[in-house]
Amino acid sequence: MLNLIVNAAQAIGERVRNEELGNIWIKTSRLPAHVEIRVEDDGPGVPETIREQIFDPFFTTKEVGKGTGQGLSIAYRVVCQQHGGTLTMEPRAGGGACFVIRLPAPATEPAAATQAA
Ligand SMILES: Nc1ncnc2c1ncn2[C@@H]1O[C@H](COP(=O)(O)OP(=O)(O)OP(=O)(O)O)[C@@H](O)[C@H]1O
Ligand SMILES: [Mg+2]
Repeated sequence: MLNLIVNAAQAIGERVRNEELGNIWIKTSRLPAHVEIRVEDDGPGVPETIREQIFDPFFTTKEVGKGTGQGLSIAYRVVCQQHGGTLTMEPRAGGGACFVIRLPAPATEPAAATQAA
């Protein structure tokens, strides 16, 4: 989560605005067999030409000293390999990037009704 939020913060910092701050949204939802966390920003977005590479170890577009290209590859390994989930990037409608974490979470049975006294 921290890696995604730092990326979003750096992305909105890149976008030149007229005294207007960028936005980061964190949204959670319950799906039938997963929980979903979306980290969205209204920065410049991820150019289509590099979308295949952003999860690769050491892939970065940031200047030396600012990025080493490890944040998304670590996040991918934790979410996908260690927790059996998925981590994807969708362009955000209206501009920016939306990173989507899905973690398996089977629906639980409703709690048994407590017995009346
Ligand atoms: N929210 C975002 N908006 C636009 N581009 C992004 C965003 N998040 C990641 N990227 C792109 O993906 C690349 C890889 O991200 P990653 O987090 O792996 O490395 P980094 O941020 O460059 O360096 P590090 O995380 O090691 O400090 C970034 O350099 C950037 O080009
Ligand atoms: Mg990063």
